[in-house]
Amino acid sequence: MSLVEDNRNKPVHSLIEEIDYGTPASRAEKTVTLTIDGKSITVPEGTSIMRAAMETGIEIPKLCATDMLDAFGSCRVCLVEIEGRGGTPASCTTPVAEGIVVRTQSERLDRLRRGVMELYVTDHSVDSLDRSKYPNVDLLETAEEVGLTEVRYGFDGERHRNPGIDDSNPYFSFDPAKCIVCSRCVRACEEVQGTFALTVSGRGFDSIIAAGMDEKFIESECVSCGACVQACPTGSLREKTMLEKGKPEWSAITTCAYCGVGCAFKAEMRGNEVIRMMPYKDGKANRGHSCVKGRFAWGYANHKERILKPMIREKITEPWREVSWEEAIGRVASEFKRIQGKYGRGSIGGITSSRCTDEETFLVQKLVRATFGNNNVDTCARVCHSPTGYGLKTTFGTSAGTQDFDSVEHTDVVILIGANPTDAHPVFASRLKKRLRQGAKLIVIDPRRIDLVRMPHAEASYHLPTLPGTNVAILSALAHVVVSGGLVDEKFVRERCELDAFQDWAAFVSEKRNSPEEVAKVTGVPAEDIRAAARLYATGGNGAIYYGLGITEHSQGSTAVMAIANLAMATGNIGRPGVGVNPLRGQNNVQGSCDMGSFPHELSGYRHIADEPLRKMFEADWHRPLDPEPGLRIPNMLDAAVDGSFKGLYVQGEDILQSDPDTHHVAAGLAAMECVVVQDLFLNETANYAHVFLPGSTFLEKNGTFINAERRIQLVRKVMEPKNGYEDWQITCMISEAMGYPMHYDHPSEIMDEIARLTPTFAGVSFQRVAELGSIQWPCNEKAPEGTPVMHMNGFVRGKGKFVVTEYIPTDERTGARFPLLLTTGRILSQYNVGAQTRRTDNVVWHKEDRLEIHPHDAEQRGIRDGDWVKLASRAGETTLRALITERVAPGVVYTTFHHPDTQANVVTTEYSDWATNCPEYKVTAVQVSPSNGPTQWQEDYNDLARKSRRIAAAIEAAE
Ligand code: SF4
Ligand code: SF4
Ligand code: FES
Repeated sequence: MSLVEDNRNKPVHSLIEEIDYGTPASRAEKTVTLTIDGKSITVPEGTSIMRAAMETGIEIPKLCATDMLDAFGSCRVCLVEIEGRGGTPASCTTPVAEGIVVRTQSERLDRLRRGVMELYVTDHSVDSLDRSKYPNVDLLETAEEVGLTEVRYGFDGERHRNPGIDDSNPYFSFDPAKCIVCSRCVRACEEVQGTFALTVSGRGFDSIIAAGMDEKFIESECVSCGACVQACPTGSLREKTMLEKGKPEWSAITTCAYCGVGCAFKAEMRGNEVIRMMPYKDGKANRGHSCVKGRFAWGYANHKERILKPMIREKITEPWREVSWEEAIGRVASEFKRIQGKYGRGSIGGITSSRCTDEETFLVQKLVRATFGNNNVDTCARVCHSPTGYGLKTTFGTSAGTQDFDSVEHTDVVILIGANPTDAHPVFASRLKKRLRQGAKLIVIDPRRIDLVRMPHAEASYHLPTLPGTNVAILSALAHVVVSGGLVDEKFVRERCELDAFQDWAAFVSEKRNSPEEVAKVTGVPAEDIRAAARLYATGGNGAIYYGLGITEHSQGSTAVMAIANLAMATGNIGRPGVGVNPLRGQNNVQGSCDMGSFPHELSGYRHIADEPLRKMFEADWHRPLDPEPGLRIPNMLDAAVDGSFKGLYVQGEDILQSDPDTHHVAAGLAAMECVVVQDLFLNETANYAHVFLPGSTFLEKNGTFINAERRIQLVRKVMEPKNGYEDWQITCMISEAMGYPMHYDHPSEIMDEIARLTPTFAGVSFQRVAELGSIQWPCNEKAPEGTPVMHMNGFVRGKGKFVVTEYIPTDERTGARFPLLLTTGRILSQYNVGAQTRRTDNVVWHKEDRLEIHPHDAEQRGIRDGDWVKLASRAGETTLRALITERVAPGVVYTTFHHPDTQANVVTTEYSDWATNCPEYKVTAVQVSPSNGPTQWQEDYNDLARKSRRIAAAIEAAE
């Protein structure tokens, strides 16, 4: 079988070329018929002649045009003739018209194109047209295309200003000598990415592409998304890997393994080496765009600290010992069986990973339920979006977002609450910014002044800087304005929702205590802003709500999700493009790991384990009895470990010591276990407490599927053999077999077939089908054979939508004299979660350490200057980091990221969690900040330990 397959039978060996139609597609419904080079063609009105020609297979030479950008018309290479019209118009900027007759080839056109190219080449950094001499000068390809064979003016013409190559960005370089100032990069930065970091500076021969204020790329506001590199037709902007290793030879379409946007990429390869990741234009989530992580930060796959051999040790105080796979798997099986024999069936469990594929996740929960014989399985989604599952299932009937990302193109008003997409979901942020530049309105509800509050060429209509922990209050106040102002969509509510529940809810939100004036006292947000924002959402056209972990990671996370759902239903903003309730998922496969039955009480498709007919169906398929009792959640497993009844844990692809709250408690739980098995790429923090380490595989080394925030199932394709020897799903199978329950699959597609067989919402899904359609949004079954882009179109999944009374209950975490400030946490663009991958790439140049953002007023009161070391203390613990003084945070609020293990922000977060799901309350911790001389003792100890781990990894590498 081939390494890469576009389905099970069709190997892929070639470079996937995507057609560039030159200009974007027109969305007009009216069509126009014209003739191009004797062929009659009918296209939507507004289509360019260039695109119409491409659609008939006639390629017109071009330089400044690309279908990712609006037509610009600067290079004059794409000239055509139109019968009855004078001159030679540019085909990229000339729209089609009924009945016109276009010629793309003639002697005159050939001569004109050659003349234009001749001028470009004289001004270029070459001294001949020989392409073999200049393999990286793409302009010569176009010169050849137009038939240019000589340059009458020689190669010594005046050159554009050339201050030399800018190599400052770790991933790409800019060579002004190759630039033709076509502006594609500038326009890509503006139109696709929305950052506006590039300009054309100067005029005539002095003109040059400038980043920021004529700075180096690295010093400018460039976010390294790569859109400019992708757009450049000359190789002036080019990936360093292309320059160093040459052009790719073959490619395969795969899916980014970072955030929940789920960008599709072409992994472009030379032999077994990745040359570059090219965003795939047909990717429905990203439409050809990417961010710095997916596009450039894949080097961790080859990082020297990656562990490639299994290791075991008797005690966590002993050094690791490399062993064979047989010995490692044998140890896991014998230890887990010994523990179950001694402490009972429920004394072990497993944790699935939202970074792994659906198939791998499904197998881990199957291992726990069928092989371990209990339901002690949980997932890292516990600590991020479990309240989304609970809240949306209760109100709408299904645990997922309602829209696709294309929906934002039809949105008129966006409420963005508790999410920071420019950092955490960058490609969605770019799509949102584009819509805002087109005139849509934005309401930001966030304690912090995130970038989207004011961005180039757009700004939020309202920023409601609510105090951490008061989301439910402000959502109720918005609802109060909708109900008391007569803004309810009564028809929608009458036809689509449970009326009794609506009336109870309407009466509740109408109470005075939920009025903006009362809620202003709790949230700190002026009442008039709450009123104006509510009116805008309810009356501004299609209203969509996007939210993130700033909603879910609270003691009232599930309540807030339901409050959002209530608001959307009350205003009729559900069930069509442009509206909806949209959780922005953190990790690449959070949606999938939840869908696959990773929670202790639910089998795949969110069906309760206590449901006997359902259980019987799984038992018949798996030939194993299943326990009807829900198992332990992660926090319960750790509590039980501390209490002495839980003794063994299999953790696949997660670092719970760093990502879960109250680090000391997590460490105590892990330390109390007799066999902790960690399966990961690197010796992560949890591995400090492990007895067996099983090396994992990267997304480049496996086949499978991920599901993004839109419920979109996409293929992950293996482009290199696993360096550790096995794909992660195979390792789970080996453990199961060693424990006496063989799980045999030849290919992960067979696991998906099993998922489809057992899960109605996936009934129509197979690898073959996903490959054919490119991607599928579940539900996909007989009723929706091609999937479901927008949910609840003609009725809610649960029948009628259910309003839920969402009483605001302040968190028990209160500020006081000892801990007067509120800490909230989040991410930064260049880093991902606990940084295990991104810290092992060149992305570290942008974020070398976690910093504590503090308002100037609070800093001054404490005698803290920018860059000072400060102690951050809560009742749970303390850490030190350096201060960043900024007005992004309000007085009384401090903020930090959690990407670096030597900071471990979770040392200070508390044990409080969401009442319904146990999702930790990461976003609200009462803290004190004070000047400090440097790292605390545990940080020093940690740094020692990390240095030791690195030495061990280096020693292993050297021994090999
Ligand atoms: S760097 Fe490339 S895309 Fe930008 S203006 Fe120059 S040639 Fe055009
Ligand atoms: S990290 Fe997210 S936004 Fe960036 S490329 Fe990957 S999926 Fe896309
Ligand atoms: S491609 Fe049309 S003017 Fe440049």
